[in-house]
Amino acid sequence: MTCRTFTPDDRPALAAAFGEWILHTDVMHFDQDSHTVGAFEGDTPVGFISVYPKKRFGGMEAYIDVIEVAESRRRQGVARTMLAMSADWARARGCRRLRAWSTADKTEAIAMWRALGYRLRPVYARKRLTGYYVTKRLKGERP
Ligand SMILES: CC(C)(COP(=O)(O)OP(=O)(O)OC[C@H]1O[C@@H](n2cnc3c(N)ncnc32)[C@H](O)[C@@H]1OP(=O)(O)O)[C@@H](O)C(=O)NCCC(=O)NCCS
Repeated sequence: MTCRTFTPDDRPALAAAFGEWILHTDVMHFDQDSHTVGAFEGDTPVGFISVYPKKRFGGMEAYIDVIEVAESRRRQGVARTMLAMSADWARARGCRRLRAWSTADKTEAIAMWRALGYRLRPVYARKRLTGYYVTKRLKGERP
């Protein structure tokens, strides 16, 4: 498996591997300020992540808009690798934190955030857990 920057030209291969929905969302960021990485086996994408910078409280943070790994390649460290690359990228840009949002039904992701040292702040609507704000401080951390 190799991880490399994902470009718009990779979108057809991504749609073939993960479904057409990916062509119709705005969660993939390809502008030069953003960081979009794919994990590939040969030419086939087996995972992807897209992160963009966001100003917050006067400082920069990096927002993970999407992360997904093919079912057949889960629990093999693909997300861990892509997140470490994203943390490196964000740190190099001077971002103080990585942020994400997980709905409460994303049990695999929630376990992953916890395992990788992300902080989860629960969000409730009418006393029902809807999801978590996910954050990780980057200052002084190693990838
Ligand atoms: C969440 C997701 C991206 C994880 O990808 P992955 O490549 O399987 O994750 P990794 O193998 O890098 O896991 C890193 C660690 O997270 C934890 N983890 C990941 N998936 C887990 C699971 N299903 N159950 C428990 N722990 C899990 C483990 O501690 C794991 O380390 P270990 O395997 O050495 O114990 C993947 O399950 C996925 O694509 N899910 C559907 C999409 C999704 O929910 N995206 C996130 C939306 S917020």
